[in-house]
Amino acid sequence: MVKTFVAVLMGSDSDLPVMQATLDVLTTLEVPYEVRITSAHRTPAATHDYVTDAEVRGCSVFIAAAGLAAHLAGAVSALTIRPVIGVPLDAGPLQGMDALLSTVQMPGGIPVACVAVGKAGAKNAAYLAAQIIAVSDAALATRLEDERQKNAATVLEKNKALQKTLKSR
Ligand code: RP5
Repeated sequence: MVKTFVAVLMGSDSDLPVMQATLDVLTTLEVPYEVRITSAHRTPAATHDYVTDAEVRGCSVFIAAAGLAAHLAGAVSALTIRPVIGVPLDAGPLQGMDALLSTVQMPGGIPVACVAVGKAGAKNAAYLAAQIIAVSDAALATRLEDERQKNAATVLEKNKALQKTLKSR
C-alpha cells in the first residue's frame, strides 16, 4: 500500500518561520509530511519535477506558501488534481495583500483553496489538509475531534482565569 503524505512547499527559506506553524500542526496530528523550498518563479522546473513525482509517490494534499506575487499554489494546482491549499504570506510592502490576491484569484478549472494570510493561514492549511485526509481515515478524524475539544477547553480556561482576575480587583 502507498503511504500517503502532505507536501508542504514554500517559495523561500524566509517563509519558514511562519510555515513552521503548518509543520507543528501536522506533527501534532501525526500526519506524515515532506517539506521543500521550491519556487514557481525561481525554480519552475524543480517545482514541476517535485509535484509530478510526489503525486506518483502518494501525496494526498499539497500545501503551497509564498509571498509577493505568489504563484506557487497556482503553479502546483496546474500540475495535479490533488487538492492544493495556498497560504499567502506577508513578505513585502503590501503586507500580504499581493500574495492573497495572487493565491485566491485562480481561473476556473484550476482550484486553490486559499487560507488566511500569515500564521493563522499556516495553521489552518495543516488542519484543512488533515480534514481532507480524515474523510477516509477514521483514526485521524478522531485526533482532529480531540484537538478541537482541547482548543475549546483552552479558551474556556482562559476565560475562567480572566473572570477570576477581574473579581479579585
Ligand atoms: C516569494 O518571495 C517567497 O515565497 C517569499 O515569500 C518572497 C521573498 O523571498 P526571498 O527574497 O526572501 O527569498 O517567492
